[in-house]
Amino acid sequence: MKKKIVDAFNDASIKVPFIIPEITENDKDVMLNALNSRLLTDGPKLRKFELLFAKLTGAKFAVGVSNGTAALHLSLKAMGIGKGSEVIIPDLTFVATASSVLLTGATPVLADVDKDLNISPSSIKKSITTKTKAIIPVHFAGKSCKMNEIISIARKNKILVIEDCAHAIGAKVNSKHVGTFGQAGCFSFYPTKNFTTIEGGMVITNSKNLAESIRSARNHGITKTLASRFSSGKPWDYDVKNYGYNYRLDEIRASLGISQIKRIKKMNLLRQKASDYYSKNLRNIEGIIVPNKSMSMEHVHHLYVIRITSKYGITRDVLFQRLLKAGIRTSVHYKPLHRFTILKKVSKVIDKLSNSVDAYSEILSLPIYPTISKKQQDLVINNIKKCKI
Ligand SMILES: Cc1ncc(COP(=O)(O)O)c(C=O)c1O
Repeated sequence: MKKKIVDAFNDASIKVPFIIPEITENDKDVMLNALNSRLLTDGPKLRKFELLFAKLTGAKFAVGVSNGTAALHLSLKAMGIGKGSEVIIPDLTFVATASSVLLTGATPVLADVDKDLNISPSSIKKSITTKTKAIIPVHFAGKSCKMNEIISIARKNKILVIEDCAHAIGAKVNSKHVGTFGQAGCFSFYPTKNFTTIEGGMVITNSKNLAESIRSARNHGITKTLASRFSSGKPWDYDVKNYGYNYRLDEIRASLGISQIKRIKKMNLLRQKASDYYSKNLRNIEGIIVPNKSMSMEHVHHLYVIRITSKYGITRDVLFQRLLKAGIRTSVHYKPLHRFTILKKVSKVIDKLSNSVDAYSEILSLPIYPTISKKQQDLVINNIKKCKI
């Protein structure tokens, strides 16, 4: 019999989708306006978006790029990381953290995670070799890694820090935005993120040299913008002093970014409320562990990840299936990197990855987004209560 294929994004049986990107009528209007302008890429809307992003994060420079992976790749390249270098990354992250390292020719070294599912500082220490050039901490689910400890390890060992802030737009530690602890911070605006430009990314840094080098490398190594080339007489009269790629962010996406960034505080607050509501109602179920909150950190709840332990009575996989049957889509973030065929071949593991392995069998990401209703959350909560044995 032919297997029925479900269109997961248009499935009428789903009462609580895993993710709903928030695109308003105003978002659509600003994109349409941008589409009607003559300069469709590398223009004033991108500059404005970059300024707004620098203001949001408190960084001196912000450079918009085509996606979060490009942001990581450009940052690593601009810091001279390549063949022969090792870069320490967490085992529990999206594959892009590793692929950006591989794009440079360097070797990703997989480190274990702590109980917040963030990279563990003690595992970083164990993973350092004479070839280590950088660490990429990933602020998992929107909660900052232990940045003070990580920066101190990095300084002692003369290692660079590039923060993967894909989950963490708006996340802070004692009022300091993530991405400003290390040499660079890299963001993604993919549709699942706390705000979206559909595809898009940003690098923030306080280093003028780094910002200039990334700005030029995102546009083939050309030092002039499209508009300035045409305004200055001879549009072809530019120099290419360095390597480069096409990692530009177009004006339509930049205009969506400008519209979305204005709502980020409100959207993050709604995520926080949804997260608190889940925690209040799930924390007393035996066998369910809810995420840790920390008073000094502004957690932006990109993901809401619970752990299903043996005391719950059924496994994570069985719960996933039962929730799906009840019309609730959940997911797992992530399958550890060391399980992927390519990374088995090209990554390096020095420390034991036991926390990451243990977490992988227990973690479940529940639906969370600014527009999730109490009614939808109650359906999730009541089904998790009902499934407990
Ligand atoms: C942790 C992490 N790093 C990097 C990326 C890459 O971002 P993008 O998909 O915009 O290339 C993502 C996004 O999906 C991510 O979740």
